[in-house]
Amino acid sequence: MTYIFAHRGSSKDCPENTMAAFKKAFKDGADGIELDVQLSKDGIPVIIHDEKIDRTTNGKGYVVDNTYDELSQLDAGSWFSKKFNKESIPSLQLFLEWITPLPMLLNIELKNNIVEYNGLEEKVLQLLHHYGMMDRTVISSFNHYSLVKIRRLNNYVQTAPLYSSGLFEPWEYVKAVCSQSAHPNYKSLHPYIMKGFKRNNIPVRPYTVNSQKWMKYFFEWGAEAIITDYPILARELLTAFHHIPRADFFKNSDQTFYNEKEKL
Ligand code: G3P
Ligand code: MG
Repeated sequence: MTYIFAHRGSSKDCPENTMAAFKKAFKDGADGIELDVQLSKDGIPVIIHDEKIDRTTNGKGYVVDNTYDELSQLDAGSWFSKKFNKESIPSLQLFLEWITPLPMLLNIELKNNIVEYNGLEEKVLQLLHHYGMMDRTVISSFNHYSLVKIRRLNNYVQTAPLYSSGLFEPWEYVKAVCSQSAHPNYKSLHPYIMKGFKRNNIPVRPYTVNSQKWMKYFFEWGAEAIITDYPILARELLTAFHHIPRADFFKNSDQTFYNEKEKL
């Protein structure tokens, strides 16, 4: 059974990475939540996607140049709709207080591929340990050095490299960065790649799967999870899944790329 992860919460209906979006995801029947974490100027893990606060708040500048106190006073909802004007940038701690008693999974994305946040890995692990969330969390990042660092610090928590294009035999790469699962852009997933992951027992959680066509495809392929802005739609489709006729999404696709290995 494929799990449904809400991408930045239910971000189609609510401002991304806010408590409103996370609470809506739970109500929508998501199994888990994906969120993005960075550090404030005073070293507090905060939940926000962009390195700058300009797009999703009424502030300006970099996350890293503002203290948690300053960040938490910003309006993080009005850019999406006036009715969310009470939403703010949550700290990871505030979020963990909320999710811990709920039967939900968690995907923390370390957003440290542009700004290098010293101590981010240690702080996230310490919070997961404190809240007893280690065994239902997967830590992902586009910064794969950071994933190797997580593994050095903690031999238990699950990690997953994020990537967006055609890695050669990505199941081997996942092992090279000491991870157990993969979080690829869904467009990079061809049946050849899905089969390779399956053969190597590596769970795949593609992002960001918002169309019915791709949701059905990944349900059929037995992806471990999909990461979607639209968990309510994914839940409806998954419930009806057994009545959906099998589709062949790749019948016209060019297999040439994926035969290169056989020619070597
Ligand atoms: O973790 C999946 C996805 O969130 C990665 O890309 O830019 O939406 O954080 P982005
Ligand atoms: Mg993300």
